Amino acid sequence: MATYLVTGGAGFIGSHVVHTLAERGESVRVLDNFSTGFRANLAAVIGPIAIHEGDICDLESIKPHFEGVEYVIHLAALPSVARSVADPIESNAININGTLNVLMAARDARVKRVVFAASAAAYGDNPVLPRTESLLPNPLSPYALQKLAGEYYCQVFTHVFGLEAVALRFFNIFGPRQNPDSPYTGVLSKFITAYLRGNIPVVFGDGEQSRDFTHVDNVVDATLRACTSAKAAGRVINVGTGESYTLNQTIALLNSIFGRGVKPQYGPPRPGDARHSRADITLARQLLGYEPVRNYPEGLRLTVEWYSARVAGGKAH
Ligand code: NAD
Ligand code: UD1
Repeated sequence: MATYLVTGGAGFIGSHVVHTLAERGESVRVLDNFSTGFRANLAAVIGPIAIHEGDICDLESIKPHFEGVEYVIHLAALPSVARSVADPIESNAININGTLNVLMAARDARVKRVVFAASAAAYGDNPVLPRTESLLPNPLSPYALQKLAGEYYCQVFTHVFGLEAVALRFFNIFGPRQNPDSPYTGVLSKFITAYLRGNIPVVFGDGEQSRDFTHVDNVVDATLRACTSAKAAGRVINVGTGESYTLNQTIALLNSIFGRGVKPQYGPPRPGDARHSRADITLARQLLGYEPVRNYPEGLRLTVEWYSARVAGGKAH
């Protein structure tokens, strides 16, 4: 049994990581300030986990939680492009200074490894597909820049301080517990709940933009592999499925899952959107032995089932 500290463990992705670690019988600590995460996301966790309410922006107060930890999975962030545009200073403090604090605390506690949630946003609107890690980054928002800075901090800590750190560039992650009522949520949680609530999904633009929609189970698998894989230290690695689907294809999939013929409403394109995004997952295969555990249509069907049960039970997410 190893001891894991999951920052942001009460959030969407974090809660899935925590559930899996607990199911595997690992010792788990969660560090979260519950700004976008929820205690309810961890209510069903089987096994003992320690939940610490704390802010990664306050280095001294979080240090004790790192003592005796082997693996830190650092997911705490303000994970929103729009919010980073609205308030670059606040998101900079959490996404860059907070990440630096986590790395400092991990270094001082001599943890074995830190796995950091980076983002495909680092690629910006680079027209090259699929995205390989060797492409020149092109951050187009404060959020993208902050996540990129986090990657570089991870590399610097590996090379200068000998703290093993791995940055995983997540592509559009979806699945249960993504909060559809947050203004910054991903498109799929919005589309699925629109179907369930009898609303018309709104497509920004012509719907021909495409994404590498990645079910959260894939991310959990890649993240846990990144903790222990011998070759991953100091690396930046894409985590996606290697396939992409357009929003129009997504509507067709949802129509088939729900047995409906919904026609979306098309609105103006969202400024700053990338047109296409798809991960090259060769490096993840090589360094992590990663293989997507769920493809998009299956992940979408499972996610619809989850939201359907929640909405039928009177809960939003
Ligand atoms: P989320 O908002 O559900 O989770 C973030 C968690 O961090 C929340 O529980 C929140 O309360 C916590 N948190 C925020 N600020 C904190 C602070 N100062 N101190 C302590 N805890 C704090 O978001 P998510 O979608 O689960 O994202 C998790 C990570 O993955 C983030 O780092 C995000 O940037 C990254 N990521 C997500 C996606 C995606 O598609 N969802 C894509 C790329 C990268
Ligand atoms: C997402 C992540 C971002 C991550 C990036 C990595 C979210 C909220 N954002 O950004 O954190 O860094 O992937 O790949 O998960 N759209 C609609 N209708 C809607 C909402 C969105 O048509 O109601 C469109 C958008 O204009 C965009 C596409 O759907 O073209 C995807 O949008 P979104 O889910 O917000 O994700 P990204 O912007 O790709």
